[in-house]
Amino acid sequence: MPKIEISDLSVDYKTSHGDIHALENVEFQLEDGVSIGIAGESACGKSTLGLTIIRMQQGGNIISGKIMFRNKSILDMPESKFDKNIRWKEISMIFQGAMNSLDPVFNLDYSILEKYPHELSGGMKQRIVIAMALLLKPKFVIADEPTTALDVLVQAKIINLLKNLKKNGVSLMLISHDLAILSEVAEKIGVMYGGKMVEFGTSSEIYRNPKHPYTQGLLNSIPTLRKEKKLKFISGSPPDLSSTKPGCRFFDRCPEAMDKCKTDPPKIKTDSGYVLCWLYE
Ligand SMILES: Nc1ncnc2c1ncn2[C@@H]1O[C@H](COP(=O)(O)OP(=O)(O)O)[C@@H](O)[C@H]1O
Ligand code: SF4
Ligand SMILES: [Mg+2]
Repeated sequence: MPKIEISDLSVDYKTSHGDIHALENVEFQLEDGVSIGIAGESACGKSTLGLTIIRMQQGGNIISGKIMFRNKSILDMPESKFDKNIRWKEISMIFQGAMNSLDPVFNLDYSILEKYPHELSGGMKQRIVIAMALLLKPKFVIADEPTTALDVLVQAKIINLLKNLKKNGVSLMLISHDLAILSEVAEKIGVMYGGKMVEFGTSSEIYRNPKHPYTQGLLNSIPTLRKEKKLKFISGSPPDLSSTKPGCRFFDRCPEAMDKCKTDPPKIKTDSGYVLCWLYE
């Protein structure tokens, strides 16, 4: 039985420039004990996805979709029941940038840690933020870019900490723009582009045989130690999320774009998941 099952999830933000479609028809399933990595460049909807699962997407309107968590439909639950039984206790989240928001005035009186936040290193702060998210022993933890802005050694320690959580039966949703980190920690990967999950599958399939041209671009931009590889960054800029134009959102940047890509790409089944792309029709 899948522990978490998300279908057709769409979330909009209303702004003065029109509606921003931060999530569009996002879909994936995770079996019990399986972790997922969410990849994609800035502003593609990663944080909105995490925040919607824990029902804290301030200003975000759920346009469609269902989130089943252990066979309970969590978007249909009254807020009081969700807060009492699920939020922090079953599902928890380490917010993006949370370590920078530890209160600078009050010292952390955790009796062993008589220090003000500014006296702590980035790694220490991140450990405190992670410990706070784990206080009630949740089973599903969403970690939103927990290693961004930390130096490489501290990053490695945080990754080890996350791996240890998994050994203790916690499933993770790890959000990062770094596919290498994701495939080290998670069994499954979902690649987001412009509010859509454009590819989903096992980490090994996505790493060895990426199907979506955007996933291929992301992987090509990872430097390797063994090979002197010329870094190929994906040129062009991210799509306008307020656009309602049909067709593939990656069209303007895709090296394989064809005429039919001006209509919405089909969802094609792969060995371990799916890809949204006309190339595999
Ligand atoms: N509270 C909000 N109000 C309006 N727009 C928002 C809000 N939060 C996020 N957005 C917009 O939604 C899109 C997705 O944002 P986000 O989920 O934070 O992406 P990511 O985490 O991938 O960077 C972006 O265009 C962002 O500007
Ligand atoms: S649908 Fe077309 S434009 Fe979009 S990623 Fe596939 S080939 Fe490229
Ligand atoms: Mg984010």
